[in-house]
Amino acid sequence: MTNIAMIGFGGVGQALVEILEEKAENLHERYGLETKIVAVSDLMKGSVYQEKGLDVQQLLECIRKDGSVENYPEQPGVIKGLSSIETIETTNADVIVEVTFTDVNTGEPAITHCRKAFAGKKSVITTNKGPVALAYNELKEMARDHGVFFGFEGTVMSGTPALRMPEETLAGNDINRISGILNGTTNYILTEMEKGKTYDESLEQAKANGYAEADPTNDVEGYDARYKVSILSNYLMNQPLDYKDIECKGITEMRMEDVENAMANGEKWRLIGKVERNGDGSVTGSVAPEKIKEDHPLAGVSGATNAILYECDLLGPVLLTGAGAGRKETGFSLLIDLIHYHKERKPEKL
Ligand code: HSE
Repeated sequence: MTNIAMIGFGGVGQALVEILEEKAENLHERYGLETKIVAVSDLMKGSVYQEKGLDVQQLLECIRKDGSVENYPEQPGVIKGLSSIETIETTNADVIVEVTFTDVNTGEPAITHCRKAFAGKKSVITTNKGPVALAYNELKEMARDHGVFFGFEGTVMSGTPALRMPEETLAGNDINRISGILNGTTNYILTEMEKGKTYDESLEQAKANGYAEADPTNDVEGYDARYKVSILSNYLMNQPLDYKDIECKGITEMRMEDVENAMANGEKWRLIGKVERNGDGSVTGSVAPEKIKEDHPLAGVSGATNAILYECDLLGPVLLTGAGAGRKETGFSLLIDLIHYHKERKPEKL
């Protein structure tokens, strides 16, 4: 049995809990994975902890009814009112699912939560970019030294395996260049503008569709893509790349006229994030709008879909495309990490 503590319980965290309920039988039969939610702690929605496991249906009902877990039934062993840090320290969870509302610019509170969890020999699965963009080496070493798992597939392209696919199935290649459409919001805006919608209308719709960050400045200025470029370099190229060293330009200056002129020339504007290995082994990263020909592999990628192109020394170019944002899609990224945690912990069951 894998005990899970949810630190943060917004849309993505709730999506994971729903998926685990829905797929319980399949996960058990296929992977021998059985899970129990033992704690939820969320700054806005309250906290509830029960060592023997919470009733997930009741938990979800409380959230649907009041938007909080405050009214989870009182019963022997139920503890309420613990902070996130107290929950991490107290819980008997094996895995901390860290999906708090974290400031991408400081990585907090997610980075602190990871440190606390690892120090207490608990594994962490997160969709927050901060820990991997800003503190990857430290956290990776801490997880290794404490013999625990650190999963973060959802930090780039939600559940589309932008990190694990190349790391595992392209192993043995040197990846010399990675470029991609790494932000769903800006790609949605650009493709809606191609259909004649204004920038403002398209941004509003991206917010309504749940693609945009809480502060969409991070999307439209390219900061979200910049953190993803940093993660790709840290994880796949083994080269720490500070986000401050990544040149970054967003799409805020894009005018309808630019989009129309490109289309008239058989071209499209796309916000491309890139990391390339230089001759001396160092890496360079950038994020900027680029005008690409309609037959470019990234030109056909529209809406909130993301795509990433890995240029490998042995295999040549490999293109991966899929969802880059969304509640269920990001919830699924946590499931994938959980299954991998389980595979590593319990190989005898597979
Ligand atoms: N706001 C992000 C995007 C969500 O639009 O791609 C995933 O990081």
